[in-house]
Amino acid sequence: MRALLNHERVALLRERGGPRSLGFWLLRKALALDVYTLFALPLRDAGTACPPGCTLLRLVSEEDLTHCPDALLDQIGPHTGIGVRKVLAQGGRIYALVEDGKVRSQTRIDVGSARTDTPCALTCEVGARNAFLSFLYTHPASRRGGWAKKLLVATASSMAREGLQTCFSHVQATNLRSINTFLSLGWQRAGWLLASRGGRYLGTVGAQRALRVLRRRA
Ligand SMILES: CC(C)(COP(=O)(O)OP(=O)(O)OC[C@H]1O[C@@H](n2cnc3c(N)ncnc32)[C@H](O)[C@@H]1OP(=O)(O)O)[C@@H](O)C(=O)NCCC(=O)NCCS
Repeated sequence: MRALLNHERVALLRERGGPRSLGFWLLRKALALDVYTLFALPLRDAGTACPPGCTLLRLVSEEDLTHCPDALLDQIGPHTGIGVRKVLAQGGRIYALVEDGKVRSQTRIDVGSARTDTPCALTCEVGARNAFLSFLYTHPASRRGGWAKKLLVATASSMAREGLQTCFSHVQATNLRSINTFLSLGWQRAGWLLASRGGRYLGTVGAQRALRVLRRRA
């Protein structure tokens, strides 16, 4: 009984959105159905949200890489799925908040079209003036310090200044921490993506017209 009460899922029941997240977890266990929430955010410039001493690192081009210290690239690389150079080679970018030489929180942005391997090999087409966010990650030692929120605000502002309009993302519906992060910043639910627990793409439900998800040969 104590093991049950201490189970991470049960502990999360006390958090905002916990019961809903538990429902999706049970759905996954009982029906082998993996549900992802699609999110959308109209982009606007709300400033950098960086505290003093903290900077927003933006890696878009080969030249950005040559100016970025190896120590930072070493911290970022393992949480990009394929490594920083490959992300850039695919047309993606990395945004990260850096303080005292430490990467606090980071994410990947793709403009126009994004490749994702979660839950399986997919391409998310969002149109030339929109973006897709993935691989949001805060180092465990920095979690619950507001770093993901600051990063998302600064990244959205940077994209808005570039003239981009809407950013989309997809988050596993059981990932309460991530769902709460997006909701607390005003991201809107923009449909659902369904997959089998084995990683077979089943389709989207109620997805905004600007977002088209296509199966990709791995
Ligand atoms: C999701 C993640 C990026 C959040 O990073 P973070 O820097 O700790 O987030 P923040 O401190 O900015 O908190 C943002 C919001 O997330 C929610 N949140 C964060 N940790 C939470 C927890 N343990 N339980 C419930 N909600 C939580 C809260 O709503 C919080 O806002 P609040 O503190 O104002 O209530 C981080 O937990 C992480 O890296 N997880 C592993 C990777 C992952 O799952 N990435 C998402 C894939 S899309």
